[in-house]
Amino acid sequence: MSGESLIEAYGLTRRFGDTLAVDSLDLKIHDGEVFGFIGPNGAGKTTTVRMLCCLIAPTAGTAYIDGLDVSRSEEALMIRERIGLLPEVPGLYESLSAYHNLDFYAQLYDVPRKVRKERIESLLRKLDMWDRRDDLVGKFSKGMKQKITIARALVHEPDYLFLDEPTSGLDPEASLTVRNYLLDLKREGRTIFLNTHNLDDAARLCDRVGIMKTNLLAVGSPKELTNMFWGHTTIVDLRHISPDMPEAIRSIPGITSVRQEGRSLHVDVTSPEDINPTIVKTLTSMKGEIISMFELKRGLEDVYLRLMGRDNR
Ligand SMILES: Nc1ncnc2c1ncn2[C@@H]1O[C@H](COP(=O)(O)OP(=O)(O)OP(=O)(O)O)[C@@H](O)[C@H]1O
Ligand SMILES: [Mg+2]
Repeated sequence: MSGESLIEAYGLTRRFGDTLAVDSLDLKIHDGEVFGFIGPNGAGKTTTVRMLCCLIAPTAGTAYIDGLDVSRSEEALMIRERIGLLPEVPGLYESLSAYHNLDFYAQLYDVPRKVRKERIESLLRKLDMWDRRDDLVGKFSKGMKQKITIARALVHEPDYLFLDEPTSGLDPEASLTVRNYLLDLKREGRTIFLNTHNLDDAARLCDRVGIMKTNLLAVGSPKELTNMFWGHTTIVDLRHISPDMPEAIRSIPGITSVRQEGRSLHVDVTSPEDINPTIVKTLTSMKGEIISMFELKRGLEDVYLRLMGRDNR
């Protein structure tokens, strides 16, 4: 693997007739980074990946993989050697066995015979498909085909891996196998571009996430994205709330807002460690009985829904 792998896009744009699928995308993905791309159906995720993998040409803008320009055909050939792609639709040879599909593909990449054999065995074992190696792919279920396609994307040991919804349609166990495998690849320091609708996967696997809807709406680590929209919120459940309590809490320095919901106070605080004890003292001094107190956890789903114009809570 090269030490300086990098995916860059500058004003990357793609139209299909009147449809603007991807609009002026600027993006930089670093060596060893796992980057997640999330967004609704039709957001332009697959189109982006297809442009980065030199399968379709951009309408405007440019993208580089390792400094090689995706729009130049002679450089595109060099890019193809460095990338592995799990496309949205597998496209395997149904009349070949799992093993032969992988062997055929590895031969296209000039992987030496002995290395091919070892690599295919190791990939199929990791993906729990070794026992099915001699079965025809045409007889496989969707999830089994998906695993073979993942193995195919890796058989030439690419520096960059593009995965378009790798866990979609997999049963929970298969999805766990694939997710754990992706974690192994992440540990190996592989650069991964992951399109997904699974926000838990995105939060767990990705160093940074981009939220896409034709335009890139936001980008950052899952934590940065949640902090971008919300600070910390402490929720205090009380036995009774007297009318003067919210006002008393609001006057504590470091508190930005207080909302009452039933017998709970939702308090936005700058720093929970410093301010929560003062909240307790203030409420106790007003004869408030605190039943529980916890921090409202927000995740990628909340960020996503807010950006799509729908608040979760
Ligand atoms: N080959 C094509 N011809 C015409 N329009 C296309 C083509 N491919 C994609 N589009 C359009 O481009 C837009 C983006 O599609 P794309 O497949 O990139 O979305 P996506 O984010 O991958 O969606 P999903 O989550 O459903 O996979 C859509 O409006 C789609 O109809
Ligand atoms: Mg897609």
